[in-house]
Amino acid sequence: MEIIPFPKPKLHLFVCINDRSAIPGNATPSCGPRIRPDDVKEVKRWIRENGWTSQVYCTQAKCLGFCNAESSVACLYPEGKFVKGIQTVEDVKELIREEIEGKK
Ligand code: FES
Repeated sequence: MEIIPFPKPKLHLFVCINDRSAIPGNATPSCGPRIRPDDVKEVKRWIRENGWTSQVYCTQAKCLGFCNAESSVACLYPEGKFVKGIQTVEDVKELIREEIEGKK
């Protein structure tokens, strides 16, 4: 293995898009379809529009292990903190904005 030389981002957000809603008989809640892959694409577009491409990464993820019926979950690095309470793509953007502004 070899380390890929690349600038470290200020923030790397992993957003859960795992969707169990179509699984027959499933009783476990999931972050999708509340948050969908297209929402992550929209966030990436918004990051580019804000000129944060080299500072902020947003990656869709499958289950992050904190499934709950009320909201979706994300994990933020480098802190490695988990956040729940995400309802919409706008919440994801707000989370990123708060993190970036807090790091200025
Ligand atoms: S389905 Fe999103 S944290 Fe488990």
